[in-house]
Amino acid sequence: MPSMSLEAIVSMLDDAQQVVVFSGAGLSADSGIPTFRDGATGLWNNVDPDEVASIDGFLRNPRRVWNWLLQLKNLVDDRRPNAGHQAIARLEAICAAKQVTVITQNIDGYHARAGNEHVLEVHGTIHHVRCHRRCGFADSWDHRAEEPYPCPACGAPVRPDLVMFGEALEEEVFAAAEARSVSADIFFCVGTSLTVQPAVRLPMWAKSAGAVLVEVNPHPTPLSPTADYSIRSGASQFFAALCGEVESRPLQTGKRDDRAIA
Ligand code: APR
Repeated sequence: MPSMSLEAIVSMLDDAQQVVVFSGAGLSADSGIPTFRDGATGLWNNVDPDEVASIDGFLRNPRRVWNWLLQLKNLVDDRRPNAGHQAIARLEAICAAKQVTVITQNIDGYHARAGNEHVLEVHGTIHHVRCHRRCGFADSWDHRAEEPYPCPACGAPVRPDLVMFGEALEEEVFAAAEARSVSADIFFCVGTSLTVQPAVRLPMWAKSAGAVLVEVNPHPTPLSPTADYSIRSGASQFFAALCGEVESRPLQTGKRDDRAIA
């Protein structure tokens, strides 16, 4: 697929009203958070996700899943959003006249921590826990909670508020993500191997509904043949450069001033 100049992308941003940034673990790689499937460091190349990140695994051995996710949470809390997260937050701020939405598969909360206000976490968050029976109990995950505990309201197990393998996504969140995707003028697909359903349908739905699909990934993915543009770059470098380009020239609001023509 052709790559494209930053000027061309900024020019597309000029005309866009709805922008979506769809992110995966590759965006947090520069924060020191391992991705799931990249080479020797990929988390799933070192531990079986069915053992440490599936609902069956949790019901079989709650402590093992809790401990594995707690060590991931402690790593996330020790690191911080990188230049890519910060640039995407700046993009939302400088494109204030447009609707910039982040749809993320990541559970690290880094987009919100970097300043993005419109974030849909389709796989939940590692920063909260909830009652497994969904009785209504929910709380922030106090890292001192070293092991799973019974729901104080109903006694069912308390578990991290994220989507484990074998579970459905939160319908309301995914419906909002789908709505944003099919109304997007530009859909950036960043740092994801597009492996996990149903999140991977979002870029395809966006493309089918007329969005320009821009993939940002140092490596090809199953989306590459379909993407309008594939940027073979790290996420931080690309979005920091894009924001620099946008800030070096005033973005048009995307609305013509008809009075000037009348
Ligand atoms: N910038 C951009 N992309 C990068 C970078 C980087 N610096 N480093 C790696 N990548 C790309 C890799 O080329 C790969 O395509 O990020 C992608 C990471 O893929 P995965 O590890 O599979 O992560 P992800 O696609 O987010 O996984 C999706 O799978 O395990 C589940 O719920 C989990 O949300 C996760 C989902």
